[in-house]
Amino acid sequence: MIVLGIESSCDETGLALFKYQPNQFGQYGELLAHALHSQINMHVEYGGVVPELASRDHIQRLIPLLEEIQQQSGLSLSQIDVIAYTKGPGLAGALLVGASIANALAMSLNKPVIGVHHLEGHLLSPLLSKTPPTFPFVALLVSGGHTQLMSVAAMGDYVLLGETLDDAAGEAFDKTAKLLDLAYPGGPAVAKLAEHGQSGQFKFPRPMLHSDDLDFSFSGLKTAVLTEVRKLGNNITDQDRANIALAFQEAAVDVLCKKSLRALQKTQTNRLVVAGGVGANRHLREQLNRMALKNEKEVYYPELHLCTDNGAMIAFAGAMRLAAQPEQAKFDYQFDVKPRWHLAEIQITNKAI
Ligand code: KG4
Ligand code: ZN
Repeated sequence: MIVLGIESSCDETGLALFKYQPNQFGQYGELLAHALHSQINMHVEYGGVVPELASRDHIQRLIPLLEEIQQQSGLSLSQIDVIAYTKGPGLAGALLVGASIANALAMSLNKPVIGVHHLEGHLLSPLLSKTPPTFPFVALLVSGGHTQLMSVAAMGDYVLLGETLDDAAGEAFDKTAKLLDLAYPGGPAVAKLAEHGQSGQFKFPRPMLHSDDLDFSFSGLKTAVLTEVRKLGNNITDQDRANIALAFQEAAVDVLCKKSLRALQKTQTNRLVVAGGVGANRHLREQLNRMALKNEKEVYYPELHLCTDNGAMIAFAGAMRLAAQPEQAKFDYQFDVKPRWHLAEIQITNKAI
């Protein structure tokens, strides 16, 4: 089954062609082509994503990217078996662009469409790697909008173990970046600046580290950064900024790491799967690997270029959904989008799958 995946939920237009063909080695198939346009340069002067501009840009990018993946794969549109698009959560206008192109294209080709949950795309993206994890696993989902620990027993069988009570981890990186006068998106910028930081110069709180649950809170950490930046005022040096970036990253990563370990222990699971944009963070990966080694656990990541939003994860999640729930394939081409959409709403209750 060849699946076209279309991602347009925020500031990245991502398209991909995935050949879904599970084999006896636990691999799921082959990524035939993928293309991405990031709108970062367009939004940078506003310090964040401008929804209206994002939608307009998706309209302009989708067709050229579709042509690009056809060229890359040598496939024509008629060879596509099904079209998967991000139905939510995300920016309504941006989602509608992907949904309308997906449905119009599917209608013209007389092929089925399936609306995919963006977070399910992230959650399953590590399965696209050459040595994919097997179920069950604990997933740490760390993106710009979400920070969640989830117990994943099987495809579509998700139990929320804990989540952020305020800011998401990516959001905390982005807000810290703003305080340090770094450009949007803040995550990679903070990580880069932290490379020049000296450890131990600033000490930031590890919010909720010792709470008995698996929830997170990052707004206090951001406030601690704000307080230090204000204290230094105009006297802040480049070295101070690097030291703050480092201390912030250490605190955020420390909490993510320790809570992930606790989730593995509580659920008596050996595998941790990390997904979402913050999963690209090198320090987080180093610390999680260290934690895993020490505690005889395994950690799986998506390939680096599949950590942030992309079409491949949508094509793949669409394929996995259809394999589990073939009735999800739609031929009526009437679509809607779900800017707010809880993962719990797409729980597959039939555990036999
Ligand atoms: O998953 P994603 O691409 O989009 C959402 O669905 O939110 O995640 C984007 C988030 C942004 O907050 C970005 O700053 C953060 O991931 N991010 C990083 C890194 N790369 C991206 N945060 C920390 N370190 C990174 N290397
Ligand atoms: Zn995302």
